[in-house]
Amino acid sequence: MKIEFGAPTQPDTGAHVLGVFEDGVLTPSAEELDGRLNGALRRAIGASRFTGKARQMLDVLAPAGLPVDRVVLAGLGKAAALDQRAAEDLGGAIFGHLAGTGTKRVTVSLDPIDGAPQTAAEIGARLAFGFRLASYRFDLYKTKQKPEDKPALDRLSVMLDGHSAAKKVFAGLDKVADGVFTARDLVSEPANVLYPATLVDRAKELSKLGVEIDVLSEKDMRKLGMGALLGVGAGSQHDSYIVVMQWNGGKKGKAPVAFIGKGVTFDTGGISIKPAAGMEDMKWDMGGAAAVVGLMKALAGRKAKVNAVGIIGLAENMPSGTAQRPGDVVKSMSGQTIEVINTDAEGRLILADVLWYTQDRFKPEAMIDLATLTGAIIVALGHNNAGLFATDDALAERLLAAGKASGETLWRMPLDDAYDKQIESDIADMKNIGGRDGGSVTAAQFLKRFCNDVPWAHLDIAGVAWGSKAKPTSPKGGTGFGVRLLDRFVADHYEQ
Ligand code: BES
Ligand code: MN
Ligand code: ZN
Repeated sequence: MKIEFGAPTQPDTGAHVLGVFEDGVLTPSAEELDGRLNGALRRAIGASRFTGKARQMLDVLAPAGLPVDRVVLAGLGKAAALDQRAAEDLGGAIFGHLAGTGTKRVTVSLDPIDGAPQTAAEIGARLAFGFRLASYRFDLYKTKQKPEDKPALDRLSVMLDGHSAAKKVFAGLDKVADGVFTARDLVSEPANVLYPATLVDRAKELSKLGVEIDVLSEKDMRKLGMGALLGVGAGSQHDSYIVVMQWNGGKKGKAPVAFIGKGVTFDTGGISIKPAAGMEDMKWDMGGAAAVVGLMKALAGRKAKVNAVGIIGLAENMPSGTAQRPGDVVKSMSGQTIEVINTDAEGRLILADVLWYTQDRFKPEAMIDLATLTGAIIVALGHNNAGLFATDDALAERLLAAGKASGETLWRMPLDDAYDKQIESDIADMKNIGGRDGGSVTAAQFLKRFCNDVPWAHLDIAGVAWGSKAKPTSPKGGTGFGVRLLDRFVADHYEQ
């Protein structure tokens, strides 16, 4: 996809998109074109149900006297509501509208907008960002696609006064989109292709961007005493790994902010095996790790002025003669022992060791983990918010705000020691499940025991890592949830 910004001119090919506000109020460029077309645009609006509501589209095909294939009127909604998010969704909707039409090129005319909360340059850049995010496809394994099955659209030009400012804003967003696409790719790959060792290889590619990569092998982890993580991978033919990705774009010696990801490349449940129906979804049980890799790519790509470290724990949860059993007791790096009542509650076992390792090695300013951790969070919140658990209110507020700004929204859930009774064990320091009631909360209470008082937030992304329906800026499939959110969180609070 080629995306460019330029000064207003008349496009001579493809689709020409012009804005219309709610109640059919034409923008100046649409007004001007309507004049040249002797009122054809207003007549088209009159002949349709198009009102200019946000993301409505109206096509005027083969307009007489113009070189373009079609004029598209795009609903902008109310000017006052046209913020960054609305502009992204508009860009996504424009892509969605034109993707199947065979049009190769789209040109958007953008006017300065009175009363909008953003400058035209910001809106133009955000529109282009949304357009690119919507254009994501994962068709690596489709060998029989005909040209007409693929969108022909491969070029977006945004025309506005002040296009160089828009281009500058977009340059950073383009790197964020690169990170989102990487996360989506990783989540979409099947588990026979993407297993711990191959995910390590993908993460290593970030070294090209200046990210420093360390890999911990099973031998390293054994030395560190990571019995909780190692137990999860014990049943698999594939070795487990931890990957540490450091981006030092901030002040030398300043404590980093740490991002931790659950990377279960396939979760069968282990000996506590899951039912067959829907088990294929568990290829995306590494969505947390994918988001961390994507985030580090975004931060390094746009040379963020921050010290950030991304740490992912990678294992495959399989049943076999070498798998851990229900009732096994494992010892974590922290020294705390865990009775594994259910081998399907494996994410928290991995995170227990990765969280402890992170605070021990990096003394971070804050730790944020992302994990497709519990089915219970889907029961609680569905698919429109990830669950947020935090030991620090200021950290929680920053994350909630970044969620609103990025469109990757969070809903805060409780942490409360009153839930600890549910994870008491008769034989060890704790057990790895707390029963059905408050299942996401007991999981978070479990993780909290491995954070050693470092300000910590946990994002349970089980409901949002994969979308079965398309949204304006994420096609169905892997969403890359967390990359936009945490890039925004870093940009707003951790860059000097
Ligand atoms: N990876 C699953 C959670 C999950 C479920 C993610 C559905 C995405 C969609 C996790 O490892 C798991 O199996 N959790 C169990 C925990 C239970 C055994 C306490 C669950 O939620 O059922
Ligand atoms: Mn599981
Ligand atoms: Zn899992």
